[in-house]
Amino acid sequence: MSTPPARDPALLLEHRAALPDEFCLILADLPRAEWAAHPDFNGLAAFWLDRHLAFRRMLDALGTEARARIDGALSAETYAARLSRLGSRLLGDLMGHHQIEDDVYFPELARLEPQIARGFEMLDADHHALHGLIDRFVTGANAVLAATRDAPQREATGRFLADLAGFDHLLARHLADEEDLVLPVVLKHRLG
Ligand SMILES: [Fe+2]
Ligand SMILES: [Fe+2]
Repeated sequence: MSTPPARDPALLLEHRAALPDEFCLILADLPRAEWAAHPDFNGLAAFWLDRHLAFRRMLDALGTEARARIDGALSAETYAARLSRLGSRLLGDLMGHHQIEDDVYFPELARLEPQIARGFEMLDADHHALHGLIDRFVTGANAVLAATRDAPQREATGRFLADLAGFDHLLARHLADEEDLVLPVVLKHRLG
């Protein structure tokens, strides 16, 4: 029996640089460059990519606004309001997205393509790793919101921005690998 993805060092989110070769079976027949022209693209496939794009944009906006706060281009009050609103939205949307993937989509996709089922277990393990980073995100954001005076808030924002970079990096890896695993299966089986 093979090592569970959550304990296989090569499959850990922080160790990966791409979707591992063993899971590229369907991707080889349906490479990323061909997805948009596929006759069944404008359903679940396009929706999935759109959700991921929204997460990337929210992360970008959080970074841009944190840098603006550190540079003094945003006031403490304005930044706190924006961080509170955007941070809550990102985390709420992301947790809901992970839950439906783990509970509904991944089991269904693994059933359709059992030879790459371990890939979906790997993505589920990624979600657990990302939830550890989400806890850190919440702690950092709360420290920013608790520091109402200018200098302490800018310092807290600097620490939050450093954590955000790590979160952004691993979330981007997860999203890209998930797209490479999921989208070819969705298109091949004409789901959605
Ligand atoms: Fe995911
Ligand atoms: Fe996803």
